[in-house]
Amino acid sequence: MIVVIDGPAGSGKSSTAKAVAEKLDIQYLDSGALYRAATWIYNKSDQNRDKFFDTLNEVNISFKYSDAFFNVFVDGDDISSEIRSQDVNNSVSTVAAMPEVRVFINKLMHHAVSQNHYIADGRDLGTAVFPEAQLKFFMIADLEVRAQRRLKEMGETDVSLDQVRENIASRDNIDSNRDSDPLKKAPDAIEIDTTSYSFEEQVAFICEQIRPHLIATTKQ
Ligand code: DC
Repeated sequence: MIVVIDGPAGSGKSSTAKAVAEKLDIQYLDSGALYRAATWIYNKSDQNRDKFFDTLNEVNISFKYSDAFFNVFVDGDDISSEIRSQDVNNSVSTVAAMPEVRVFINKLMHHAVSQNHYIADGRDLGTAVFPEAQLKFFMIADLEVRAQRRLKEMGETDVSLDQVRENIASRDNIDSNRDSDPLKKAPDAIEIDTTSYSFEEQVAFICEQIRPHLIATTKQ
């Protein structure tokens, strides 16, 4: 079974999806982390497209969700912290807009979800990657709230709230307007505005929607 949550950066998708995965004992897939891993490779390739595509086809990207943490590995090296750097933040939307990269990451995701029950978060999961998903959610929140959440998530950092807000606004713009699978609400997605919901309310609401599907799938 696959349940998806799409929405802009900082809308609360990943923390909500992780809490839901814990409560329902299902797997969590952070599609943004995979685009970040590709971006980390792009930066290591000196942002040279030819070198980047060669490397992308040679390396092995893998991931593991354990203890409420989504770990990403490139050739066995854990790059989970490095993919959250400002260098990656600054180029991830450019890399995610490359159609070849989207095909590559989509394949990785399809392979994973065929093996287990998953809740995944991203931008285009309900529209382009898993249009067949049993349940789709679309999370939104005010830009200011999203910027504050992202800054808190980054922990100790030299980056200012203004820089985070600017980065999120610019990524929203690129993610929503790119030609390849832009950030878009699927017509059958349930919209949740997290500005006015408490975290616990969001998690409880989503779990309530998923439970009947989980029971039905397990019975088959
Ligand atoms: O969720 P995040 O901020 O970690 O995602 C990083 C970037 O990856 C985001 O700016 C857009 C891109 N992305 C995407 O294009 N499609 C997805 N399904 C998930 C993320």
